[in-house]
Amino acid sequence: MSEFSARVESISISGIREVFEAAGEDAINLGLGQPDFPAPDHARQAAVDAIQAGEADAYTSNRGIQPLREAIADKHARDQNVAVDPDDVIATAGGSEALHLALEAHVDAGEEVIFPDPGFVSYDALTKVAGGTPKPVPLRDDLTLDPAAVEEAITDDTAVFVVNSPGNPTGAVSPEEDIREFARIADEHDVVCVSDEVYEPFVFEGEHHSPMTYADTDSVVTVNGCSKTYSMTGWRLGWVTASSRRVERMLRVHQYVQACASAPAQYAAEAALTGPQDVVDEMRATFEERRNLLLDRFEEMGVEVPTPKGAFYAMPKVPDGFVDACIDRGVVVVPGDAFGDHGAGHARISYANDTETLREALDVMESVVTDLRE
Ligand SMILES: Cc1ncc(COP(=O)(O)O)c(C=O)c1O
Repeated sequence: MSEFSARVESISISGIREVFEAAGEDAINLGLGQPDFPAPDHARQAAVDAIQAGEADAYTSNRGIQPLREAIADKHARDQNVAVDPDDVIATAGGSEALHLALEAHVDAGEEVIFPDPGFVSYDALTKVAGGTPKPVPLRDDLTLDPAAVEEAITDDTAVFVVNSPGNPTGAVSPEEDIREFARIADEHDVVCVSDEVYEPFVFEGEHHSPMTYADTDSVVTVNGCSKTYSMTGWRLGWVTASSRRVERMLRVHQYVQACASAPAQYAAEAALTGPQDVVDEMRATFEERRNLLLDRFEEMGVEVPTPKGAFYAMPKVPDGFVDACIDRGVVVVPGDAFGDHGAGHARISYANDTETLREALDVMESVVTDLRE
């Protein structure tokens, strides 16, 4: 008998953390996956009010407080044009827990989970924690996930495929026709589409589309949350929504590992969802400006970068030694292969950093590129 489970031995601490640790304290950090904005005042205030009124001291219902789940259902009616029953929503400890619930509830030992490569690090790890087999699918040249590649990868052992648009680490946004295809694939095959939409509002070209809009209710599990949309990563508040029978299975896991999402965070999330959305619009506009700055500068450097249409990441194709040289010169970027084998040859740059700092970092990157070419 081994001391630790084979499941936990099959995962390791994310490569992203190693990069942070290698850089000095004064380094410019373009590795972070969180917006550089304050959480909305009205969200903070709602939590303070709930705490002071003594409303946040006790467990809430496992699914979360009713007004929050109603606000989430209203959001899906407004943005996805889908009627969601508030009882078919579970408030979770961030999108991370929502992904965990989705995979625990649907993946049996040895079953396959298809996800984008490069893709968000949790898809591989949480698949292994659930006892499943990761099946990463390489992206197209523009870093979008090809529905045909997903359909081809499906076998009798496939339990789930994950769609993530706008994407981390790519910033890629799937066009409507691809999202419709993912919906069709989920409807036609006996597999669940887990759609991770935590970067939903940050789309600069075209629009965000959700598989839930086009698929049968029972085909899609949708993950979303407040971390990125409202710059509330520390609050740990996300959600998952799906058909009643899927939610009931996910609730079984949630009940035992979490009981309920943090009560103060639930009040804050309700206020964020129902309050003014101009904070989100401002973030989107700022991210777009920074993205354009990044694209201009990379073009000047002669560095190829698939145009990111959303989120706050870019994935330029970089020469060998780029990431280490940037870190040596005080700029943290993440090597693309931290997100899967097919991320090799790229670096992920988060532009959730103020413009001045971004310019400074771009100057360093330019000097690195020049020196590596010599
Ligand atoms: C694609 C994606 N999904 C989900 C998450 C989880 O976010 P959180 O647990 O903070 O809501 C992240 C965080 O970086 C992400 O990039």
